[in-house]
Amino acid sequence: MNPAAASTPPFVGGVANYGFSDADFAVIARRAQMDFGLHLTVVKKDLVYSRLTKRLRQLGLTDFASYCRLIESDAGADERMAMLSALTTNVTHFFREEHHFQTLRETVLPPLIKAARAGGRVRLWSAGCSAGQEPYSLAFILLDLCPEAARLNIRVLATDVDPVILVRAKAGIYENDELKAISPSIRAQHLDTVAGQPNCFSIGAKAREIVTFGELNLMQDWPIRGPFEVLFCRNVAIYFDKATQSRLWSRFAELITVGGHLFIGHSERVSGPATASLEAVGVTTYRKTPGESGNKMNIFEGVA
Ligand SMILES: C[S@@+](CC[C@H](N)C(=O)[O-])C[C@H]1O[C@@H](n2cnc3c(N)ncnc32)[C@H](O)[C@@H]1O
Repeated sequence: MNPAAASTPPFVGGVANYGFSDADFAVIARRAQMDFGLHLTVVKKDLVYSRLTKRLRQLGLTDFASYCRLIESDAGADERMAMLSALTTNVTHFFREEHHFQTLRETVLPPLIKAARAGGRVRLWSAGCSAGQEPYSLAFILLDLCPEAARLNIRVLATDVDPVILVRAKAGIYENDELKAISPSIRAQHLDTVAGQPNCFSIGAKAREIVTFGELNLMQDWPIRGPFEVLFCRNVAIYFDKATQSRLWSRFAELITVGGHLFIGHSERVSGPATASLEAVGVTTYRKTPGESGNKMNIFEGVA
């Protein structure tokens, strides 16, 4: 048999038709839920088909039954990650949802910087950081308020489940079009030109110094002790079902210091037991209170 023909799906009405049964959809939905917390109901079947056919083409597979066998096998670990990338979006930009950065600048960061200047420890976490625009935006604001931040105990942790997007984030090189939301003064201080790429800019050394990237699946164990004074997890939980979201908020609440802040995406809301210790203080902005079982750590103790 001609191998090329073997990897070509049948054509129906001139369009390639990769067989996709309800059972195939159920396998993909269960795997996406188990590994990544993704919530795929049957109304998303067409969307899943259109997002994943590109994967099948690249793998030379002709139907979803073969694809399901691959993602269910031990050899399918890389493909499970590629599936996640195909099913979710990495859309992000600098200073997205600007009001959060305004709150940071005006009310959240000044006392934290004061504490850090007195020797305290300050940690920010961008969970689901995509290509890095969110944590670098945090770094820009920090450095604007505290140019010596790298010499203090102030750091931004930036994590994502997707290793491919993290390569981009660590490279920290962006096209001019992506930098529109960055003010001229931040551009002048924190963006460098890139030799041979006239349309690109690179994140400067000072901002890179305070941001650390790492791969982390929010559905698994977190090798993170915390606590964090600021936690950004925006436009990530939107993919999860209610129970998974509720567990996530509780896990975050455990890691946020009393008085610390959680910022979430514009269409997300904290729900479940975490509402006892995360009070809404602004648009999709929450502050950690002692709550019922909240941690009692406070970075100001003994510092300021
Ligand atoms: C739409 S982007 C949001 C980026 C940024 N937080 C923002 O609001 O602009 C969603 C990111 O969440 C990541 N993500 C999806 N599921 C995840 C999981 N289970 N654990 C960690 N990150 C996840 C994706 O890889 C993607 O980079």
